[in-house]
Amino acid sequence: MVIATGKGGCGKTTLTANLATLAAARGVDRVIAVDLDPQANLATALGIKGHDRGLSMLSAALGEGRAAPKLHDTGRDNLWYVAGGWHLRRLRSVAIYKGGPYTLAGWIRDSLRPLADGRTMLFIDTPQASGDILASAALLAGESLLIPTKLDAFSLAGVSALVEELLDLHDGDREEWAVINILGVVLFAVNRQASAIERRTRETLQHELGVSRVRLLDSSVMASDKAQIDAIMAGVSAAEYALIAKTTTLPPWYETLGTNADDRRSFANNADALAADYEAVAAEVDKALAEDLG
Ligand SMILES: Nc1ncnc2c1ncn2[C@@H]1O[C@H](COP(=O)(O)OP(=O)(O)O)[C@@H](O)[C@H]1O
Ligand SMILES: [Mg+2]
Repeated sequence: MVIATGKGGCGKTTLTANLATLAAARGVDRVIAVDLDPQANLATALGIKGHDRGLSMLSAALGEGRAAPKLHDTGRDNLWYVAGGWHLRRLRSVAIYKGGPYTLAGWIRDSLRPLADGRTMLFIDTPQASGDILASAALLAGESLLIPTKLDAFSLAGVSALVEELLDLHDGDREEWAVINILGVVLFAVNRQASAIERRTRETLQHELGVSRVRLLDSSVMASDKAQIDAIMAGVSAAEYALIAKTTTLPPWYETLGTNADDRRSFANNADALAADYEAVAAEVDKALAEDLG
């Protein structure tokens, strides 16, 4: 599953971290969170301290030694991380020189395929910028695409731009790449107090997406500055954050936390609600995946 947007800061990384963590927690045999962003924000969101900054992905993609990308431990059962980082810039330059997004998408797929045995789910976080070869290749490398968007007009324009880019990429004789399925669009950072805005946004999006028959998920992720910023800083998912906020026996991954975690009064009081939102999105994504894959 590829998570991409047409505009930056719309929740790709946060959503990837939360969906991957939830999938692993509910017992998918093997979940791999793949970071194709040179900025490697996903490592931060998952609380991963040391990683190879995309070096093993670069080597695997360029076929040096044919090793698969390194699976970094995330401290959670069944959940692994393939690192992004500045080495991916080199991958980008080589791909520009050697061919283009289809070539690069092929390298990425071939690199990741050996990691996916049997019941494995890969969640791929992507970099920003439409027209960027790495972002385009990332779009092509997956099987399903999930698009988070905020509710403002610029973000919505980004969704349309992304859907168009995808149609462009699938244009012409590239039959072998015409396989990615747009699983849907999910509203991100929704202000629950402003329900009229959500309603209006849904109408606008339904109208636009209806043409390309892309689904708009019923569930969404609420805006929550404190819980979300805390969780990202601590390198934990919303569900994990909500759990630490009330647990007395600290979980094994507690040591990955930042400094203020001991002070329970400082935890956001809507942590449960935020976690429940991600649960709902994950459940709807699962259902949609099952439908789409027949
Ligand atoms: N539920 C939320 N409500 C409000 N802001 C959020 C929420 N989740 C994440 N954010 C913030 O939104 C910003 C963009 O999120 P991010 O996941 O990095 O997006 P992208 O990967 O698309 O650039 C981050 O600064 C993050 O802290
Ligand atoms: Mg990001």
